[in-house]
Amino acid sequence: MEERILTNQELTEDNFEETIRPDRLEEYIGQQEVKENLAIFIQATKMREEPLDHVLLYGPPGLGKTTLAYIIANELGSNIKTASGPSIEKSGDLASILSTLEPGDVLFIDEIHRMPRCIEEILYPAMEDFVLDIIIGGESSKNIRIELPPFTLVGATTRAGDLSSPLRDRFGIISKLQYYTMEELTEIVKRTARVLSTPIEEEAAVELARRSRGTPRIANRLLKRVRDFAQVKGDGVITLEITKMALDQLKVDSIGLDDTDYHLLKSIIEKFNGGPVGIEAIASSIGEEQTTIEDVYEPYLLQIGFLKRTNRGRIVTKLAYDHLQIPYQENMFE
Ligand SMILES: Nc1ncnc2c1ncn2[C@@H]1O[C@H](COP(=O)(O)OP(=O)(O)O)[C@@H](O)[C@H]1O
Ligand SMILES: [Mg+2]
Repeated sequence: MEERILTNQELTEDNFEETIRPDRLEEYIGQQEVKENLAIFIQATKMREEPLDHVLLYGPPGLGKTTLAYIIANELGSNIKTASGPSIEKSGDLASILSTLEPGDVLFIDEIHRMPRCIEEILYPAMEDFVLDIIIGGESSKNIRIELPPFTLVGATTRAGDLSSPLRDRFGIISKLQYYTMEELTEIVKRTARVLSTPIEEEAAVELARRSRGTPRIANRLLKRVRDFAQVKGDGVITLEITKMALDQLKVDSIGLDDTDYHLLKSIIEKFNGGPVGIEAIASSIGEEQTTIEDVYEPYLLQIGFLKRTNRGRIVTKLAYDHLQIPYQENMFE
């Protein structure tokens, strides 16, 4: 399948993300409450010279979880070691990561919900008492206990509900990241343009924000594409006109929907009368994995009120019909 420019998942072209990532809390735009709380907790632990409580960050892809993990380490003045749930396959993998930790380190585990349950259990004593319990040897196996230095685990997940409750309970700080407002996204676009030394008109930044699905990763990616258009078709300045032209050409509509969204909404409208319809039926009708729909396609449509989740299934709302310019028929279930 062609790569979807509006996906909130990381694409290979996003490797420029490292250069544009804010690295201090005060440069991190939006998420006011999360930021204020973290600032206080970080300051308090520094005063007490204790490690920061373990932090769980959750929310849809592209909202700044990884960025925040690095910022936490930076603000603590600590080193960060990183791992991701799916790459930890054996208990030995996790044990060897844990045994490299130094006092005060931040251990960042991305997609922590995808870590196998049996391995998760190694984390419990590590998080709680800073010890590592391992079993060595085959038949005459014995338990050994290794002391770990105090450290802070920062976990990131798109699915907090998939975390086992014993794991979730061991995080002292649990922060949910929200979709960004237009104003915040406009700030993010302007900041990134500044970092890339690209001049941009205010209205162009607003237009990019409007089409970025509340998601910084998408805003930055669209900005990068529009910058190419400005270079080739204009004089390098990102104007409103160039922005509109580029985004139309990239098939990103006025509120940030693309063909995938249209396809999903129209399938429900045409094949299921607008719903309610179960996620399984939607998945098979558009030939997609159920989890892809739930994690990637659906959240933004739910967020803007184009889709509604009911206990009888998904419903396409009047708002969506209006946007798609399809006559709306009163739905008795809505
Ligand atoms: N609050 C923010 N302020 C500025 N830029 C942000 C913010 N949140 C995210 N970004 C940018 O968006 C991109 C994606 O963020 P990332 O932390 O990788 O998201 P996640 O880990 O949640 O998928 C990064 O390149 C980062 O520069
Ligand atoms: Mg990430």
